[in-house]
Amino acid sequence: MNRKKETIREVVQHTLAEHEISDEFALSEHVVVYPGDCLNLLRTIPTESLQLIVTSPPYNIGKEYEKRLHLDRYLQQQAQIITECVRVLSPRGSICWQVGNYVDRGAIIPLDTVLYPIFSGLGLRMRNRIIWHFEHGLHCSRRFSGRYETIIWFTKSNDYVFNLDAVRVPQKYPGKKYFKGPKAGQYSCNPLGKNPGDLWVIPNVKSNHVEKTEHPCQFPVELIERLVLSLTNEGDWVMDPFLGTGTSIIAAFRHKRRGAGAETVHRYVKLARQRIHQEMNGTLRTRPMDKPVYDPNKASNALTITPWKENTAQTMLFQKNPKYRRKANR
Ligand SMILES: C[S@@+](CC[C@H](N)C(=O)[O-])C[C@H]1O[C@@H](n2cnc3c(N)ncnc32)[C@H](O)[C@@H]1O
Repeated sequence: MNRKKETIREVVQHTLAEHEISDEFALSEHVVVYPGDCLNLLRTIPTESLQLIVTSPPYNIGKEYEKRLHLDRYLQQQAQIITECVRVLSPRGSICWQVGNYVDRGAIIPLDTVLYPIFSGLGLRMRNRIIWHFEHGLHCSRRFSGRYETIIWFTKSNDYVFNLDAVRVPQKYPGKKYFKGPKAGQYSCNPLGKNPGDLWVIPNVKSNHVEKTEHPCQFPVELIERLVLSLTNEGDWVMDPFLGTGTSIIAAFRHKRRGAGAETVHRYVKLARQRIHQEMNGTLRTRPMDKPVYDPNKASNALTITPWKENTAQTMLFQKNPKYRRKANR
């Protein structure tokens, strides 16, 4: 093929596809999927060599891939892994720990609150506690259904990589200009877009999501892309100690970073390798970063009944009219 006629994406895929997926860490590698315990992988990684460690650990809630432990024991295990992560983190690097709730006989303990002392005790500084809001999950009957989790972002020092321009989002009024004063005629907001803030509305990977696999708790690729773009530069290492289906490596690879991760369950290791290969050859289907969140009111899907346009049982629940109440109770 004439290299001059290749698109940039093709050139990148071409170059990166030449890299194998290694199962052992070496700084000369580009993609590492370690089939085993993350502590064993971490022990092979040189000190201060990784720019971003991003992960979602088991929440200790009895998922198929974890053994439910007493909370103290769970936190001890996490502390051991986090300590190793801090050792391998570069001085300008970041750690992002994405967590939800531990649930004990119906009472919730937000895991970020109990993990925070471990990170701060190791000298890390918290930069954001990002709220990741999504619409799908368990329907609770004894409390409000949980529709957010958090990403706690820590840095090793005050001099850390943060590429805000790479992740700006459209302004509410993009063309707005000062109409008087010394800046009249100039844009009153950043024409590159605005800071995405610390509340991220990104669909989670449930049944209809294009990225859904058999894994019960996958990251959406777009969630990690935002972290990779803002917290690393091209060529940097991104590592996920609890790799699952390989999402963090996929996001890293897509943006010309190096990616590594560990996973103990054989079939997820296989799945991760498969998805990374698909990403390498350009066939992995993912939800694009800039795609607006589904709005049922605007949807033209014939299967969707927008309850507020029709007199359905749901609308009736909101109506005071006794006529509707009777119907709704049928
Ligand atoms: C919450 S899931 C992460 C899913 C991942 N974010 C993705 O997008 O697919 C946690 C994963 O960690 C794996 N795991 C649990 N303990 C582990 C350990 N000690 N070392 C490596 N992987 C582990 C589990 O099998 C599970 O797939």
